[in-house]
Amino acid sequence: MDAPSTTQVQQVREITRIERTGAHSHIRGLGLNDSLEARAVSQGMVGQLKARRAAGLILEMIKEGKIAGRALLIAGQPGTGKTAIAMGIAQALGSDTPFTAMSGSEIFSLEMSKTEALTQAFRRSIGVRIKEEAEFIEGEVVEIQIDRPATGTGAKIGKMTLKTTEMETIYDLGQKMIEALTKEKVQAGDVIAIDKASGKISRLGRSFTRAKDYDAMGPQTKFVQCPEGELQKRKEVVHTVTLHEIDVINSRSQGFLALFSGDTGEIKSEVREQINDKVAEWREEGKAEIVPGVLFIDEVHMLDIECFSFLNRALESDMAPILIVATNRGITKIRGTNQQSPHGIPIDLLDRLLIITTKPYELDEIKQILKIRCEEEDVETSDDALNVLTKIGKETSLRYSIQLITLSSIISRNRKAREVSIEDVKRVYEVFLDEARSSDNLREYEQYFMFNDLSNTKQETESKMET
Ligand SMILES: Nc1ncnc2c1ncn2[C@@H]1O[C@H](COP(=O)(O)OP(=O)(O)O)[C@@H](O)[C@H]1O
Ligand SMILES: [Mg+2]
Repeated sequence: MDAPSTTQVQQVREITRIERTGAHSHIRGLGLNDSLEARAVSQGMVGQLKARRAAGLILEMIKEGKIAGRALLIAGQPGTGKTAIAMGIAQALGSDTPFTAMSGSEIFSLEMSKTEALTQAFRRSIGVRIKEEAEFIEGEVVEIQIDRPATGTGAKIGKMTLKTTEMETIYDLGQKMIEALTKEKVQAGDVIAIDKASGKISRLGRSFTRAKDYDAMGPQTKFVQCPEGELQKRKEVVHTVTLHEIDVINSRSQGFLALFSGDTGEIKSEVREQINDKVAEWREEGKAEIVPGVLFIDEVHMLDIECFSFLNRALESDMAPILIVATNRGITKIRGTNQQSPHGIPIDLLDRLLIITTKPYELDEIKQILKIRCEEEDVETSDDALNVLTKIGKETSLRYSIQLITLSSIISRNRKAREVSIEDVKRVYEVFLDEARSSDNLREYEQYFMFNDLSNTKQETESKMET
């Protein structure tokens, strides 16, 4: 079994990094200063200082990467920024540390057993940093010459001259190389590197000697020295893959393509054992390092007792990621049992968790968050419209008022106004109910709805956290 190649890894990376747009796209980090104190407003984060500071400490722990199997619980009322804080941690970790986000309820909708789904989530959250020696051709392009076939069809061929400060060589180009060069828009005067194994071309920059050719420059043109020495070079390259990616690439029945469809199915335990052995070997030989990442399970009260006991055991492995879970439930039933427990989490698991709580926002914090959301969504509002949205946010919920931004901006655009006015907000507020008004509405028109059971709904609401 070989380490996954750089190209495979790059393709994989592109798949795993798509998730984070939408509700939390304004969040770019935890907004801490160098001594890990939370700044009042920073990186899209507002207030919730204590929780953010605590998250910062966890972040440091993750970055040091030495401790496996620690776990954190973020508890608080709905809309107090639990998910936002987890996303802040993800942003601050950067792209080299794996971060997997899932919701507790997902476990039940996958076409695999619950424990398999959790095992995959765990292994997605552990990175393996692999060091490889790779051979490159690196030089400044002197000339590219492409011959079109006389008949007009058939493969193109060509030649490319590359040089370093000491030598110059002419290479024959095949169809694939020509395509790659065209795609990267390589031209004379560029300094390029070609990975000999995969044929991947990267442009390193423009050569300084060509600094006067204004035609070929964009605003971000980077200038580099013409490489020295031989054209052929050996360089160490480092790339990070997750254990899950290695599992899938090596699982014969699925193969690498399964990563694209997301349809990886269950992976045999023998495959995993083999891979664990191989990774252990690479670590001993100094070829690989383990990078513990983060597994974030939102709405963790949706897991059941089997999942919880799986988590308990999995956290004890020396290759466990940092687990972050979040919930808005208070004392409630543990799924799959008749027992009650804080947050619906069994006591033995709770005992392993560090707990941070989030508090409801003050008026000025809500206003600030709404302002950031307006910027994120490119919506202009008048001052008093923003004030009204803020009030609505305080009296109903932050989420509801964030939703109203988008809706009222549609109305304002329809009347060709440049900014959202109080009237626009008022109209959407009248049309779309918040949770409280909707409940009132239900109580009032009770008899017209199907499956009506008021006593049940009341219980549900009461089990939400009350801090
Ligand atoms: N402190 C904060 N700073 C910036 N945006 C926040 C903050 N707290 C919450 N939000 C935003 O408010 C919305 C609701 O918060 P969310 O994190 O989903 O709440 P929870 O997960 O606690 O129910 C999201 O769009 C979130 O990004
Ligand atoms: Mg949430």
